[in-house]
Amino acid sequence: MRLYKAKNYEDMSRKAANIISAQVIMKPDCVLGLATGSTPIGTYKQLIEWYNKGDLDFSEVTTVNLDEYKGMPRENSQSYYYFMHTNLFDHVNLQKGRSFLPDGTEPDSEKACSDYNAVIHQVGGIDLQLLGIGRNGHIGFNEPADHFSLETHCVDLTPSTIDANKRFFEKEEDVPRQAYTMGIKTIMQAKRVLLVASGEDKAQALYDSFYGPVTPAVPASILQYHRNVYVVADEAALSKMP
Ligand code: PGA
Repeated sequence: MRLYKAKNYEDMSRKAANIISAQVIMKPDCVLGLATGSTPIGTYKQLIEWYNKGDLDFSEVTTVNLDEYKGMPRENSQSYYYFMHTNLFDHVNLQKGRSFLPDGTEPDSEKACSDYNAVIHQVGGIDLQLLGIGRNGHIGFNEPADHFSLETHCVDLTPSTIDANKRFFEKEEDVPRQAYTMGIKTIMQAKRVLLVASGEDKAQALYDSFYGPVTPAVPASILQYHRNVYVVADEAALSKMP
């Protein structure tokens, strides 16, 4: 694991965007695995800024996202489809039809998951996977469990994740209870992984993931076995690191 210490959220965002830019510049037709959540928003903003300056070109890039709420219409402002369009896709020159997310509108979980696995295989795997981390150590929606997941699957969100995500909804009851998520095996098969973390509420999860035992009870801990992991975190998120 290579750790990049950032002073604050802005610095974390710029450092993470630098790593993504380097990937796009070195391999213009790369496959980027992307993430939603509050943490990567600043990273996407920075990428848009560099794109507008003419320093970045996404015309050959393909993107695959980690997850999507099950049963969420795309046009709903809480869907990850909507999030990605608003925070990145609508502002850069990604080609239409080259950005993929699990289909949250597909009620048949088995179909939604196998279709998404087919997409990931078809694009040839992921060159760089961006990840946030949950307060419980989840990556994507791979929640703490007694085993590591393989490919895309449907998950029941844990109370901790529902609690963390309720801030985006009017009431807690509105938070979807299930999601489709890329599995741990797929994440581990990405050539490079970039994990971003900001704020004190991520400090314990970050410590447990990189200094605790590798266990499905802390899904991100599996990253200790990945050869090319870059962690970009701010001082607050690093406050429990040795
Ligand atoms: P956050 O979510 O960036 O909104 O904190 C991260 C995650 O749960 O993966």
